[in-house]
This record gives sequence, C-alpha cells and structure tokens, in this order.
Amino acid sequence: MQAVMKVLFLDQSGELGGAELCLLDILRPGQDQNQDQNQDQNPGSRSPETERFRGKVALFSPGPFKTRLAQAQIDHQLLSEHPRYLRDRPFCFSRRLGELASLSQSLGDLIQLARDSDLIYANTPKALVLGAIAHLMTHRPLVYHLHDILSPQHFGWLNRSLLVGLANQCVTRVIANSQATQQAFVAAGGESAKTSVIYNGFLPERFHINPAQTQALRLELGYGGGDRFLIGCCSRFAPWKGQHLLLEALASLKNPNLHLFFAGEALFGEENYVLQLRQQVQQLGLTAQVQFLGFRQDIPELLSICDLLVHSPVAPEPFGRVIVEAMLAAKPIIAPAEGSGPELLRHDQTGWLIAPRDVQSLALAIQQLQADPSLRQRLGQAAAAAAQQRFHLQETNRAIYALLKQILQPETEMTPQASPGVAPHASTSSGTSSGTSSATSSATSSANRPANGS
Ligand code: UDP
Ligand code: GLC
Repeated sequence: MQAVMKVLFLDQSGELGGAELCLLDILRPGQDQNQDQNQDQNPGSRSPETERFRGKVALFSPGPFKTRLAQAQIDHQLLSEHPRYLRDRPFCFSRRLGELASLSQSLGDLIQLARDSDLIYANTPKALVLGAIAHLMTHRPLVYHLHDILSPQHFGWLNRSLLVGLANQCVTRVIANSQATQQAFVAAGGESAKTSVIYNGFLPERFHINPAQTQALRLELGYGGGDRFLIGCCSRFAPWKGQHLLLEALASLKNPNLHLFFAGEALFGEENYVLQLRQQVQQLGLTAQVQFLGFRQDIPELLSICDLLVHSPVAPEPFGRVIVEAMLAAKPIIAPAEGSGPELLRHDQTGWLIAPRDVQSLALAIQQLQADPSLRQRLGQAAAAAAQQRFHLQETNRAIYALLKQILQPETEMTPQASPGVAPHASTSSGTSSGTSSATSSATSSANRPANGS
C-alpha cells in the first residue's frame, strides 16, 4: 500500500472567508483514511485521491475558522496568539517587540511542521509569504491556492510584485480559483505554465431544502404575507463587494414590495463600511425594506427563501462562492459581466449578467426579473443543472489531490480521472490533456470545463 502523504496547509486568517470555507471543504473528507467519522460527515466528497493524504492546518490567528476546524475534527495547530498585530493602533514599540519574539517562535514551529510534512500548501497571500520561508528552509515543495485577483483594484503594486515574485520563485504549482484569477496572475507577471484552474466545489444535496423549512424561515424573518419580492445578498461586507450599489438600485426603483436582506459581516476590518450602509438605508428611506441578518450558518436555507440573488461587486470577483451556491439553490442570479461572472453564468441562460458598477443596469435587471416569474424559473432551473455538473466537491477534491500527488510522485502515472488537465473542474494553463475516461469525457462534454462558461 502507498504511504500516506502529509500536507501542511497554511492559512493566516482566523475568519471564515471564502478561502477558508473552500479549505474546510478540501480537508473535511477522508483526510485520513482511518478517520471514518470525518468521512461519514461528508461522504459525497470522498474519492480515492483524497484518502491517500493527511492534512494538517497551521493557523496564525484564533477565531471562527479554528472553531470550525475543530468541529470538523480536522487536525490543526495555532502558531500565533496575535491575530491583528499588523492593525494595532496606536503603534506600541514594547508590544511590537513581544510580538516579534512570539512571531520568531511561531516561525520556528512552522519550520518544524514543514519538516514533518511532504508538501506545503499556502491558502492566503500572507500564508504564501510564510510558506515561502518554510519552503526555503526545508525544501518542501510549495503549492499556492490563489483565491485573489492580483489586479490594481485589489492589491497595490508592492504586494502584487511580492506575491507574483514569490509564486514565480518558490511555488511549484499555482491553483487559481477561476480563469479570471489565472489571467490576472499572468497579467501581473506570473508564470502561466505553473497555473491550474480548479473551481471551488460544493455538495449539491446541501441545497435541497424542505419546502416546509423554507416557509418557516420566511415567516420567522418576517417575509410571510403579501406579494413581497425578496432579494438576498450573502457576502461579507467590504466596499469592493458593492452592497452600497445594491441599495442605490433598490432606492431608485421606489417599490415597497421589494425587500432585501444582507447576510454576512465585516470580516477584515471593514466595520465602518457597515455603518455607512446602515446610514445609507436610513437616508434612502429603505428601513422598512432592508434587513441586516449578520453572519449566518444557514446560507442554503436562506437562499431557499429568496426570489432573487444579487451579487454586485464593484471590482472583479475572483470566484464568488455565493454565486454557485445560489445556482445550486435554483435561484435566478444577477452578477456583473466581469471577473468570474461570465465564467460561472451564461447571460439569459443560467443567470443575468449586467454592466459592472452600473446602478441603472442593476435596477433594470431587478425590475425585469421581478416582473417575469417564468424567466426566473427558467434561469434558476438551468443554473442548478449546470452547477450540479460543474462544481461538485468530489471532482474539485479529486483534481486538487491529483495535482498534489503528481508533485510528490511525478513518476506515478496519473489515472485519466485524476489528471488535473482533464478533470471536469480543472484545467492546466494549456487546458489540454491527452487522457479521457468515460467519467470525465461525459462530464467535460456537458459542462464544467473552465473555458466554456456554460
Ligand atoms: N457566507 C456565510 N454566511 C454569511 C455570508 C456568507 O456562510 O452570512 C458564506 C457564503 O455562503 C460563501 C462565503 O461565505 O460560501 C463567501 O464566499 P465568496 O466566495 O462568495 O466571497 P468572499 O467573502 O470569500 O470574498
Ligand atoms: C476569495 C475570493 C472569492 C472566492 C473565495 C474562494 O475569498 O474573494 O471570490 O470565491 O476566495 O475561492
């Protein structure tokens, strides 16, 4: 029997952002073939590839992500108790010294963990910096899961140069969460040949909600009676996520039957933006139409009560898990025609794409979809069918673990399904592969190659 390969996953954040939720999904299933309990929690995502790996997560911040790792019984270790030292104000020299001492201890622990592993997997930009140090000290191969669009709208020149430089110099393989992310990486100077596109994966069953439960939640949140049209927006609060644009569009429509809820919170220090949004709701006279629900653990149930999901970022979205979640919930979706939008949704088939950053386009789209229940139903059903084929967690994990295995055992012949070049959720930079199997060829012919955007 082959040895179990040990992978050290690094994630600097303690919060539950999309990158951390993606990592939870990668790790939860069969990370250790002896942990039957884990497998039972998430049987749909198990595959032969995942069972030959054992993952451990090294964290640099406490917080909800650590709690979720513990709940899922995923092996993890917290390497720092100083989650926000880079943001502390005012600057305090003695505190900084203490933190630096603690950081060097953390780095020592990190390097030891890396020595005990076969491969290092960086899941965030700061994790890439730490992973590069560990790689240089231990010569373990480094993989970078790139969840961000490295464009000037998201990162300053210095950070872009640093991340791209580290990726080019130290990383064996960059996993981009979409083609949009891959293209931005290459445009920023990243080596195209190192990249593979692998989409986030999901368990479609999680989005099949019992109608009685949906009805109960609608009542609980006060959307019971009348002909209310309910719009959901389920994103963390950050100016680039563009919740303000949605409020402007809603106000411009002057329709009291339109209701909107926001699920999410400010995860990375954007609390002032939430205050601004609350003020905006008051100033625009929308208090009776808009609810702030905070961070929710029941997104599939919440999606089930919506008539429409609006995602209105004002900078290109790298992937946008919430878009695929709404597809799986069979909801019509409005999203901008940039970033991952055109890759995940096809206009007037599986979603409704609008001009980015354009309040009028957004308002018009909401109005059109509200007025046309059969259009909403057609889009929602097609979206669910496409998402079930293109974004299954099992395929995503198969592609990721096959890619790791190929780095660790380059001499091993890859099975056709396991090849990152042909797995339905993955494409290499060339997007080609010679091998196919009945399983993959049927999947690739129907949907889910990153290039086809269906
Ligand atoms: N989410 C959640 N609770 C909330 C709001 C969002 O669990 O109240 C989840 C959402 O379902 C999605 C993730 O947070 O899986 C957000 O990921 P996405 O890729 O959409 O955006 P990110 O915030 O990572 O940029
Ligand atoms: C990041 C991106 C988001 C993506 C998520 C998972 O948080 O901002 O677009 O969906 O990672 O890959």
